Amino acid sequence: MDNRPIGFFDSGVGGLTSIPHLFEKLPNEKVIFFGDTARTPYGSKSPNTINLFAQQIGDFLMAENVKMIVIACNTVSAIALDKLRERFPDIPIIGVISPTARVVANQCSANNKIGVMATKATVESGAYINKIIEKSDEKLSIFQIACPALVPLIEEGFTGTEIMRLTLKHYLDDFITNNKIDTLVLGCTHYPLVKEAIKNLYPKIKIISSSEEVIEAIAIELEKVDGFAVENNLSNRFYASDLSAGFTNMIKEVLGEKEERYSIRFKNLDI
Ligand code: DGL
Repeated sequence: MDNRPIGFFDSGVGGLTSIPHLFEKLPNEKVIFFGDTARTPYGSKSPNTINLFAQQIGDFLMAENVKMIVIACNTVSAIALDKLRERFPDIPIIGVISPTARVVANQCSANNKIGVMATKATVESGAYINKIIEKSDEKLSIFQIACPALVPLIEEGFTGTEIMRLTLKHYLDDFITNNKIDTLVLGCTHYPLVKEAIKNLYPKIKIISSSEEVIEAIAIELEKVDGFAVENNLSNRFYASDLSAGFTNMIKEVLGEKEERYSIRFKNLDI
């Protein structure tokens, strides 16, 4: 048993999309979330910068005495997971790509055409292709597309707008048609915030979301170290490097009305 919180982080609001799935599947767990809203997006930054930011956030979460770190960001998972594990060897550190790749490998066969939409850094890392191939016995067809305009638009609150619909069409229409995609991986934790818009545009496509698939991996890790929390009254804490209205609104949206035990705080990370 371990009632310490789980540390989650993302470049901004995207990683918050994992939190409702966590509370649904593991309701006793508490979180300390850090969104680097002052420096988002990460997806178009260089690996050196992404590694530096990830280590600063890791230092902060370790100082908050978390029992595990969940990298609720595909970009950081693709670039910085191994370095973070080296830096913090004493606690489990989980990224979102491996658990998602496992689901793709389990659910898809050679008949499927898999599309991965992600940030530029994630696409360039090749992490999804490598992990899916590693976990599958079949010769799967995997196509990738970088969608760099999506994260800034989502952070600015454009999720339900016509601009978003046109931007999604711009990236996905030809990608889906030309490659005959039938399974689409949301390889960025911001993208569940536009999942409905994607479904409306392409209703026949099966969607796999990295924000959701990571939860089972958390449960497996906690089980291994006998680290599940028991029922408790501790609060959830949400930190951001810029306390934007988008961040606070998104927390209310993802937590819903019933979750009352949380606080929202500013945290400056020295650059
Ligand atoms: N949510 C992050 C991801 O999953 C977004 C990265 C970004 O800031 O561009 O990749």
